[in-house]
Parts: sequence; structure tokens; C-alpha cells
Amino acid sequence: MTEAAIAVVGLRKSFGKTAALRGLDLTVPAGTVCGLLGPNGAGKTTAVRVLATLAAPDAGSARVNGFDVVRQAAQVRRSIGLAGQHAAVEEGITGRDNLRLIGRYHGLGSRGARSRADDLLERFDLAEVADRLVRTYSGGLRRRLDLVASLVTAPPVLFLDEPTTGLDPRSRQEIWDAVRELAEGGTTVLLTTQYLDEADRLADAVAVLDHGTVIEHGTPGRLKAAIGIRIEVTVAQAAQLDTAVRVLADLAAGVPVADPAERRVEVTSGAGRTIALPQLVRELDAAGVSAQDVALRTPSLDDVFLALTAAPGRAAR
Ligand SMILES: Nc1ncnc2c1ncn2[C@@H]1O[C@H](COP(=O)(O)OP(=O)(O)O)[C@@H](O)[C@H]1O
Ligand SMILES: [Mg+2]
Repeated sequence: MTEAAIAVVGLRKSFGKTAALRGLDLTVPAGTVCGLLGPNGAGKTTAVRVLATLAAPDAGSARVNGFDVVRQAAQVRRSIGLAGQHAAVEEGITGRDNLRLIGRYHGLGSRGARSRADDLLERFDLAEVADRLVRTYSGGLRRRLDLVASLVTAPPVLFLDEPTTGLDPRSRQEIWDAVRELAEGGTTVLLTTQYLDEADRLADAVAVLDHGTVIEHGTPGRLKAAIGIRIEVTVAQAAQLDTAVRVLADLAAGVPVADPAERRVEVTSGAGRTIALPQLVRELDAAGVSAQDVALRTPSLDDVFLALTAAPGRAAR
């Protein structure tokens, strides 16, 4: 078995009284894209910073490309790229000069740095804007240049910390295209995100992080299958909501959630459970609920996340 590109065991990191990572375990096979998913404050950035050797862990171990992030930090640094939410490129020079400078800094030599910059600009559709000052770039362009800047050294492992947060849909799409192209070329990518659709589109596997630990992981398909199907019932009168909640609680494994403003109740069926529409409508009828609309649909990762973080018995903060 070849060693995983990223192997994290029991990683802990606190800032004063705040425990940002409380025993993080994560394995990312080489050549795959892992989506580290979690709400604000879950510990995503701290995890990336520890893996990128920018912060020291308090306990546990982490290896990147086989190198220990504490004892072999220099080797780790040489084999990774890092791009984040806040673009780290120089504003007062052009995009092309940014990439050339980075290449020179990493010892590519003037000719090497020049051709590497040209290649990357071409490959990631930045050639047209390459000779403009970065100061004049839109937020989306800057973020894309920042991503490309992390690729100058052709790192086998790339960390992307919320690469599309705050971007418009089109810029997000462009970043996604770039990540996909890298993944196809064999780069291992660890991507943090608050957007479940982003993880769904890009990630081979997803780890859901909450309060500094992984509370669930698997392929997006497996995570969705684990909560079964999604049932949405809209009742004719708001007064029938409570009854509808009771009917659904009996039928499904999930905890029904009512939205009074929409007169709607939603629930997930639970793993392996199928609920037939006729049976559902019959049970609602029998309870005196007239349903205005009943829908069964496959869950999205958003549903998975809500089901996970609303699950009873979940560790309190
Ligand atoms: N440098 C720091 N000093 C103090 N607290 C921090 C620091 N960095 C992160 N934290 C805290 O650690 C927790 C996890 O933060 P972070 O890793 O940034 O989460 P995420 O990236 O998922 O939003 C939060 O409670 C945050 O306030
Ligand atoms: Mg963060």
C-alpha cells in the first residue's frame, strides 16, 4: 500500500482556552480531492495551517507526502502549495511578474521562472490579463492568480482554504475548473469549504468537521445514502403542522423540522428506508392532515450536514 498523501492522527491545537482541533483524524489518498467541510469556527483553517507547517500542533501527528509536519517541516514545505481566502499576491506588479518572482525565489532561474509563468498563465486562462497590475484585478481574478501562484513549484499536494468564499458564481466556476484540471493531473487537493455544493462537485471524499473533530466522512454519495431520502410535506393549514410532524416522526428515522412560514415539514427517511408516496399520503389523511404538496427527493449534501449537526446526542461544545 502506498502511503497516503495526507495522514492525520489525533491532532490537537488550542489557542488559550479555545480548542480549535480536538483530536482530528484524516486520511487523504494520493491523487484525490478531499473536501473538509464545516461551519465557521469548526477548525478548518487551523487544520490547514498545521498541515502547511504554519502552526505547530499541541498533540497528535500529521504527515504530508510522508513527511512529519513538525520534524520534517522543510520537506513538507517543499512539497506543498497553499492558497487561501485572502490572496497573497503583490498588488503593485503584474500577474506575470508575480509568478516570475515566485519562480526565482524557489530557484527556478530566470529563464525557468519565465517559462513556468507563461505556461501557468496559458493553462489557467490568465494570459490576457497577465500584464496588468494586480491592483486592477477583480476579486475573482486575484483569487485565481493566488491559486496559480501556489502551483509554480508544481507541488504534489495542494491546500486550498475556502478558495471561493465571497466570489460570484462565474468566478467560483473558474476556480472549480482549475481544481478539477489539477486533480486530473494527479495533484492531491485538500479543500476547505462552507459550501456543500462545492464539496459535492469537486471532492472524491468529504470529511465533515465540527468543533475540531471529524463527525462524518465518506464519498458524497455515501453520506447522502446514509440519511436516506428527503421528504417534504406542505400542509393546507398551519394548524395541521404539529400533526404532520408527528406522522413523519413515526414514519421516518430523522427528526422532522417544521417551517411554519412555509407550512412545510421536512424529514429524512434514514439509511436504507424507503417510504412510498401512497402510504405517506394515507397516513397523513388518517391523521386528518390535508397535504397540499408532498415531495420525495434525493438529499443534497446540505441535507446531510443539517441532519448531522441536528442529530440528537451530538457532542456539545
Ligand atoms: N490565532 C488564533 N488565536 C485565537 N483563537 C483562534 C486563532 N485561530 C483560530 N482560533 C479559534 O479557533 C477556532 C477554529 O478556528 P478556525 O480554524 O479559523 O475555523 P474555520 O476556519 O473552520 O472557520 C475558532 O474558535 C477560532 O476563533
Ligand atoms: Mg477558516
